[in-house]
Order: sequence, then structure tokens, then C-alpha cells
Amino acid sequence: MAFKIFLPISLIFLIFILLAPIGHAKRSTPSDKTSSPFDFIKKLKGCHKGNHTKEIHELKAYLEKFGYLKYEDKTHATNDDFDDTLESAIKTYQKNYHIKPSGIVDDKTISKMTTPRCGVPDIVNGTNYMQPRGKKHTPGFSNIHTVSHYRFFPGNPRWPSSKTHLTFRFSPNFPVSAVAPVARAFHKWDLATHFTFAQVGANQNSDMIIEFHRRNHGDGASFDGPGGVLAHAFAPTNGRFHYDADERWSIGSVAGAFDLETIALHEIGHLLGLGHSSVNAAIMFSGIGAGQIKNLHNDDIQGIRALYGR
Ligand SMILES: *[C@@H]1O[C@H](CO)[C@@H](O)[C@H](O)[C@H]1NC(C)=O
Ligand SMILES: *[C@@H]1O[C@H](CO)[C@@H](O)[C@H](O)[C@H]1NC(C)=O
Ligand SMILES: [Zn+2]
Ligand SMILES: [Zn+2]
Repeated sequence: MAFKIFLPISLIFLIFILLAPIGHAKRSTPSDKTSSPFDFIKKLKGCHKGNHTKEIHELKAYLEKFGYLKYEDKTHATNDDFDDTLESAIKTYQKNYHIKPSGIVDDKTISKMTTPRCGVPDIVNGTNYMQPRGKKHTPGFSNIHTVSHYRFFPGNPRWPSSKTHLTFRFSPNFPVSAVAPVARAFHKWDLATHFTFAQVGANQNSDMIIEFHRRNHGDGASFDGPGGVLAHAFAPTNGRFHYDADERWSIGSVAGAFDLETIALHEIGHLLGLGHSSVNAAIMFSGIGAGQIKNLHNDDIQGIRALYGR
């Protein structure tokens, strides 16, 4: 497996200690190429209903992948007609990401849509679970700080209430250097919730498993190479959490790379039953910039407390 981990300059000395034991880890230099599977969206700048641009079918596939669009008639899914359904899907996306719902592929929409993100859809089976809950809400997100924005998966799947101690393991070929950041992420969730977590051996049974995969890896949610989708995880009580092995991963903030611990905090949220939040600062927000470090937010912790009634 091609595998890259980048460290801040201050930790460069550690590279030798951390990466030396990993036989299959490929040392590679960061390239200047910053292309992403989401780059096609930039070509749609200014597009609106009635346009026919050859990347429109790709935008339909993107919105379908993340839960915003579902055509009954597959010919509409694969053509380049900017139709009513696409316009309405874009408006829903814009509302979820606090952009004026114009239905036009404007700069702000392009900027959000091209941000690297988690592969878990924002909407599952038509449940727009990023929309704020609570009747105090008024349009325009004016009271954004007074309502909760966390979301659950449809049907609120969760671990049984008697099961507060959860075990996790790493796949046998998991890079040694990536274990500590994931363990730290579990520890942060441990401190913030009623759950306790413990690592078990790679060949033992566990509630959760963390692995690196690339492209199609047999779970119906293919990764897409460098950039684009970074990782994904499944709702309770599935327990699977996958990193995209084609990304440039880092321990800490490194330009052009993604922090293993930050992404683990997010994916563990899914393992525990949280969906995507519309709060930018929440760990459960879908998108993340390269070099960005995030921590658990009140919205995330409130979400777990609400889901488990504690
Ligand atoms: C979209 O259609 C308008 C006409 O309605 C045209 O002027 C514009 O160039 C088209 N934009 C793109 C990106 O194709
Ligand atoms: C979505 O709905 C389909 C049928 O309508 C069902 O089979 C599937 O389990 C649902 N998925 C979720 C995540 O609820
Ligand atoms: Zn996610
Ligand atoms: Zn997977």
C-alpha cells in the first residue's frame, strides 16, 4: 500500500524513529500538484438552471454521492442538463453550508464543494439531518448560537445503553506511526462522554476497527485518490472506520497534509452515531482544510449526550 505521513519540521527528527519500522511506508516528497477529484466543480462557475456544460453530470454525481440528489430516471442523472431537480439540490446544499440559497454555482458554493471532506453523506434517505432542530429557529441562521446543529443517522442508531466500554483494533498492516494519533482521538472522546475505549490486539475481536484503504475496497464507498474524500466511517454498531491511503497524512499541522488525529475525532463521532453538523467549528462538520487541526466542540458533545440521553 502506498502510504504517506508528513510531520511538522519540528518533528522531522521523529520521522526516522516513527517511520523506520514501517516496511511498506513509501517516503515521498510533497508534490506541487494540488489537483483534487472535486476540481471539476470550478469549471461550472456561474452555472444555473438551463445551462448545459459538460461537467454538469459530474456535479449530479457529486450531489448524489453526498445525499442531495436522487433521480428516479437514470438518464437525468447522467446528462448535462441543469434541471429543476439539480437547482433544488444545490439550494439544499447551500442552506446546509450557510450560503445564500440561489441555486447558482457561485464562488462560495464552489469554495465549499471543493473542500476535502468526509465521505459520509450529509443526507441519508431524504432526511436532511444538517438542518437546525428546535422551533426557535428562524430562517437566515440568525440564532445560530441558540440551536443545536448536531445530527444523527436515520433511525438514531446507537450502541446499546449497557455498552459503555468499547474496544477498537487496528488492521494488521496499520502503520505504527498512525496508532498514537488515533488513540489520542479516542481518549478525547473518552474524556468528553460516558464511553470508555480500549485498544485490543489486531487479531482479537473488537467493537471497532480502523484501517487504511484506497479506491474501491469492497464496502460500497470507494475512495477517490488524493484529495476529495479523506475518510469515512459507519453508523453504530458497524464499527468500521477507513482512512483513504492515497492522502498525504500528518501528525500535527503540516501544509498540504491532513492531521490523522483531527480526522479520527470526526470519524469516531460517526462510529458513536453522530451525523454531520452544520456548525463550522464542530468536529462533525463535513469539510476540513489541509493543515487544519480541530477539536471536539460543544455541539459534538451535546449531540452524544442527546443521542444517549445522558
Ligand atoms: C449559462 O447559460 C447562460 C445563458 O443562459 C450563458 O450566458 C452562460 O455562458 C452559461 N454558462 C456556462 C458556464 O456555460
Ligand atoms: C433507506 O431506505 C431504503 C428503502 O427505502 C432502506 O432499504 C435503507 O435501509 C434505508 N437506509 C437507511 C440508512 O435508513
Ligand atoms: Zn463525516
Ligand atoms: Zn471504506
